Amino acid sequence: MDGNAPNRAFAHRHLLGIEGLSADDIIYLLDLADSYFEFNRRPDKKLDVLRGRTVMNLFFEDSTRTRTSFELAGKRLGGDVINMSVRDSSIKKGETLIDTAMTLNAMNPDVLIVRHPDSGAVELLSQKVACSVINGGDGSHEHPTQALLDALTIRRRKGRLKGLLVAICGDVLHSRVGRSNIHLLNIMGARVRVVGPPTLLPPEIERMGVEVHHDMEGGLADCDIVMMLRLQTERMHGIFVPSVREYFHFFGLDYAKLAAAKPDALIMHPGPVNRGAEIDTEVADDITRSVIPEQVEAGVAVRMACLEAITRNPSTEFDGAAS
Ligand code: NCD
Repeated sequence: MDGNAPNRAFAHRHLLGIEGLSADDIIYLLDLADSYFEFNRRPDKKLDVLRGRTVMNLFFEDSTRTRTSFELAGKRLGGDVINMSVRDSSIKKGETLIDTAMTLNAMNPDVLIVRHPDSGAVELLSQKVACSVINGGDGSHEHPTQALLDALTIRRRKGRLKGLLVAICGDVLHSRVGRSNIHLLNIMGARVRVVGPPTLLPPEIERMGVEVHHDMEGGLADCDIVMMLRLQTERMHGIFVPSVREYFHFFGLDYAKLAAAKPDALIMHPGPVNRGAEIDTEVADDITRSVIPEQVEAGVAVRMACLEAITRNPSTEFDGAAS
């Protein structure tokens, strides 16, 4: 890398969540990612930072952005990247998560990127393998690289995270994106509000260091950032909203509700977007306010930074034998 990447070490073998990282860890990853953001806009996007390293994408849940951007990130850094989806694997034949992990481990990968529908499954897997593990999203628990890419997007636009007022809106209960963002923004000194109906906010939310609002007007008042979350129906067992139409009426982001936020407030969404459910289609596409495509762009840069930091970590240098 010929950018201004910092040379402090990132002293973690795995990246399982934002909880447990320090402000310095986060700044380290964001600074490194910032240099990759510019690098990725060049015509020649190939480095040899990961030359000789094998990265495996192991996704037990669907993904477009996360999987593709990890694949691109690994390839742009010169690593060998393998994609495994559950559809093509022996999981369908009844092999357990741990058996699959042990099989892949025997092929000596350097990094496993794992997404799984159960909270805690990625951490469990990390205890069974010799390589580094990056959490690509586990149930409704954590999605650390998403929070980092959101932070990079905010920092590039606003110049800082500290002191900003961020409203995280919608289905916080089922959202690993919401949870990882709450941790990161708190660590970095931003003010966090969560906005949603009581049925879609976790019972322990008050203890997470956030302000709780049940109406969009109050929740969005004077915000710098409006972060919308998807209604995650695949994780809902039971009825959480009376109807999508009614949900949109009260909690969907449209221009009328957005008027409560600061005039230069940014609109964010991790994708995939359900137009007309949590966000009005015009608002989502408003290039003067929405930074949704920039979040995707930041995703590649952040994942390059994470792969580099994890593989540079002194404890993983000898085939990950140390922990
Ligand atoms: C998120 C996820 O999978 O948690 N998507 C993503 O990674 N971009 C958010 C979501 O699915 O709503």
